[in-house]
Amino acid sequence: MKKRVILMGPPGGGKGTQAVTLKEAMKVPHISTGDMLRAARKAGTELGKKADAYISAGQLVPDELVNGIVAERLAQENDGFLLDGYPRTVAQADALEAAGQAIDAVVLIDVPDELIVSRIVGRVSCPGCGCVYHKETMPPKTDGICDKCGGTLVQRNDDREDVVRERLAAYHKQTQPLVDYYGKRGLLVTVNGNASVDEVFDQIRKVLEF
Ligand code: AP5
Repeated sequence: MKKRVILMGPPGGGKGTQAVTLKEAMKVPHISTGDMLRAARKAGTELGKKADAYISAGQLVPDELVNGIVAERLAQENDGFLLDGYPRTVAQADALEAAGQAIDAVVLIDVPDELIVSRIVGRVSCPGCGCVYHKETMPPKTDGICDKCGGTLVQRNDDREDVVRERLAAYHKQTQPLVDYYGKRGLLVTVNGNASVDEVFDQIRKVLEF
């Protein structure tokens, strides 16, 4: 049986960056609620239209909207997953538990607030394969083009400094209580996210024992 893992951490903490290599190493699907909501917004679905205002303002999308899409997605998985960006509130964690989704580990990538804004405002990512870059610290080989798949790199519209500060506030208020929630269940493992991408990956590999 493959592992069922939750990746947790502040916005810009490196969840998406680590997920690209982790999903291959663990041979499990990467399920990112941020990606799912952005895809819904791009497709112009009802959910996407409702989510847009929250995402653009740096606020969390209401639990009932997110719980529905995750439950539907997880119903298709029976052999491990890497959940990125969910759960993000105690109500979402309760919904996941109530759905009978047993979790093997919750990996918290811990990064101090002062690093977050510069990491996010410099980020560009590939909508095709999910690879993440930073214009200054981790640039692609060719400006604007993904090294891995040749796709055109984009900047997210919620990656403005004022919105990032809102996202960070939402993280502290609504998501950090999950540290206690999963700590009490003996599932939480914390890695130091203020290290190189390879070093963070190595820490995760060790705590997940693969
Ligand atoms: P989501 O897409 O989940 O965004 P997030 O959690 O804010 O996280 P990010 O994607 O910004 O950062 P990351 O941790 O993946 O960092 P990354 O690897 O890219 O959510 C977006 C919005 O959708 C939310 O605000 C909310 O509105 C909504 N939403 C989503 N899920 C929801 C839910 N469950 N409930 C309600 N609403 C929900 O790295 C960032 C930058 O840092 C990059 O430039 C990268 O190159 C660089 N970097 C990465 N690792 C390192 C390192 N080790 N050292 C130096 N730089 C690094």
